[in-house]
Amino acid sequence: MKQNLFSREQFDESARFVLARTDLRPRVALTLGSGLNPLANALTDTVTIPYGNIPHFPVSTVVGHFGIMVVGKLNNRPVVALKGRVHYYEGYDYQEVTYYVRVLRAMGVDTIILTNAAGGLNRSFRVGDLMLIADHVFLPGLVGSSPLRGPNDNVLGPRFPEMGAAYDPALRRLAHQVAGQLGITLQEGVYVSLGGPSFETPAEVRFLRTIGDAVGMSTAPETIVARHGGMRVLGISMITNIAVDSVTVVEKPTHEEVLEVGQEMAPRLTELLSGIVTAM
Ligand code: HPA
Repeated sequence: MKQNLFSREQFDESARFVLARTDLRPRVALTLGSGLNPLANALTDTVTIPYGNIPHFPVSTVVGHFGIMVVGKLNNRPVVALKGRVHYYEGYDYQEVTYYVRVLRAMGVDTIILTNAAGGLNRSFRVGDLMLIADHVFLPGLVGSSPLRGPNDNVLGPRFPEMGAAYDPALRRLAHQVAGQLGITLQEGVYVSLGGPSFETPAEVRFLRTIGDAVGMSTAPETIVARHGGMRVLGISMITNIAVDSVTVVEKPTHEEVLEVGQEMAPRLTELLSGIVTAM
C-alpha cells in the first residue's frame, strides 16, 4: 500500500518554523501563479522565508516560480503570500505539490486565494482576461492521481471530502462585487487542471473546450487539499494565451509568453486581490 510522504507532525513543524519568525497570524493566504510574483511587493511589514529554509518544504525548479513565502500585510490585513509553487511535471508527487496547503492550515490559515496563469478555452476569452474559477475538472484526479490518495489522517480531514461548492460561493460573489467597484472585468468559468508540462495538442484543446473554459497545470490539487482541511477557496486565472485548437494555427504558446502576459496583468490582479482581502 502507498504510504503518505508526510505526516501531521511535519506540517506542524513547518508551521511552527514560519510562525516563530513573525508576530502576524494571517488567516488568509495568496498563492501567486506564473508572473504574478510582483504582487508580494504590495505587502508591508514583511518577513521573507525561502521555501528551502522551511523544514520539509519542496522547492520549485521552474523559471518564474521563485519559492519564497512572504508573511506581511496587504492593505493592513495580515496575509501570507506564496511566491511560486511546485508542480507535478517537475517530478513532484501531488502530496509534495500540496504540502504547503497543509502547512498553511497548521498555521491557522482558513482562506486560500489561488491564482494561476491559464490558457483560454472559451471562445469569448481574450488574452489579458481575468477568470474567476467557478469550478474545476482535475483530470489526473479523475483517473486516480489525487493528492489525497493514501491512508487518510482523520484529524486533517474526512476520507471522502465532498466538493459540491469547492470554490466558495460567498467569496465568489464578493470577488464580483469588488471587481465591479474597481471597474475590472471578471469572467467566470471552469478551470481544467492537467499534469503538463507539454502544452495541449489541438485535438486535446477541442476536447477540453467541451468540459471547461481555461486550462492550466496547477490549482485543482491545492483546492482539493484545502477543502479536505475545511478551508475556503477562491481561485482566479489570468488568461495568458489562447489555447490553440487547430494544427493550421502558426502561433504557439510558450512559457515566456505566459510569464510576460502574467507580469503585464499583475497590477490589475493585485488591485483586485487587495480589494477582495480588504472587503473580507
Ligand atoms: N495550457 C496549459 N497550461 C497553461 C497554458 C496553456 O495554454 N497557459 C498557461 N498555463
